[in-house]
Amino acid sequence: MKEHKFSTNQIHLEGHKKPFNSHSFPIFQTSTFYFDSPEHGAELFAGKGEGYIYTRLGNPTIDAVEKVVAGLEGGFGATATSSGMSAVLASVFPFVKAGDHIIVSDTLYGASTTLLTDFAARYGVESSVVKSTDLNEYKNSVKSNTKLIYIETPANPTLSITDIRGVSEIAKNANALLVVDNTFATPYLQRPFELGADVIMHSATKYLNGHGDVVMGFSVGKTEELHKKIRSFTKLTGGNANPFDSYLCLRGIKTLSLRMDKHNTNAQKVAEYLQGHDKVLKVYYPGLPDFEGHELAKKQMTGFSSVIAFDLKGGFEAGKGLMKSVKMMTLAVSLGTIDTLIQHPASMTHSGVPREEKMKAGITDELTRISVGLEDVEDIIQDLEQGLSKV
Ligand SMILES: Cc1ncc(COP(=O)(O)O)c(C=O)c1O
Repeated sequence: MKEHKFSTNQIHLEGHKKPFNSHSFPIFQTSTFYFDSPEHGAELFAGKGEGYIYTRLGNPTIDAVEKVVAGLEGGFGATATSSGMSAVLASVFPFVKAGDHIIVSDTLYGASTTLLTDFAARYGVESSVVKSTDLNEYKNSVKSNTKLIYIETPANPTLSITDIRGVSEIAKNANALLVVDNTFATPYLQRPFELGADVIMHSATKYLNGHGDVVMGFSVGKTEELHKKIRSFTKLTGGNANPFDSYLCLRGIKTLSLRMDKHNTNAQKVAEYLQGHDKVLKVYYPGLPDFEGHELAKKQMTGFSSVIAFDLKGGFEAGKGLMKSVKMMTLAVSLGTIDTLIQHPASMTHSGVPREEKMKAGITDELTRISVGLEDVEDIIQDLEQGLSKV
């Protein structure tokens, strides 16, 4: 990040002049771009001169949001992808081949774990899953063919906090890359490149866009070399974002710091309220002083973001009952949107998953997850209060 502070950058960092003196960046809703002549086409394909060829390879609206995200994260370049999962793919697969080994933390978003273990194995990439908070496990899992370590912090759904600097030192000693999923924190609250990461990925579906109307991701390379490999991979595999989603995300990012400040203060109050409630067994939120990762979160983050997990007394029936009783909150998966989202995985998203697998993923009958939104916090607490009174 140069010259200005974060809130100024999120508005002014587009980095290049907007075309036709437009005030907001236009949507270039086009699949292809015409050439002035065969020579012009040949020049662009040779990578010379300014201009665009075809939207999978590059598009002004997609470029604009990529520049902002790269600037906010402090990386050389960002590649916008069609989803967060597409960004996980683009952050790992350009850097590994059959015969390589990767280390992944045990608290990743479920689909990331499946992609980086079972799916990777089908292509000859072996993985070790380690306890996210235990640096010794990372160190002891390093092999001569370890190429990459992948972590997510805070993690979904337990909010566990991983020591980015600690893991980055292990990665450097092993000559391996460190990839950090920065979805829960955003660059406003956590700066993984400054803590030693090489690649940062985002599900922009969440806080970056922030309004719950886009599925999108980013893979940001710290150096030119890393960025170019990610970009080539996405051009080839076709996992690029589209111009309309890029426009919406560009617009969403302009208020990122304001939203995150409000998310933080609302979530802190909701977490404290839940902690004091007699129907709640345990609250998982990095902003609570007795949370396991609190001190580390204070060190590597400037706020605790807005996802809270909590265990309800009364298990499955209580969780399901709360889902039926809340009135204002939205019953939905996802997180990081303007409105408060609540879900009880055991009776909703994971209802068809065998018990053993649910336990392995930390999905107990008691666990409820809430993504605290931007409403007046008294109304969020009031909705929880009336819902909890009925379970
Ligand atoms: C931390 C994290 N990473 C990655 C993803 C995948 O993102 P998407 O759903 O945009 O593909 C998610 C989705 O919930 C997530 O929470």
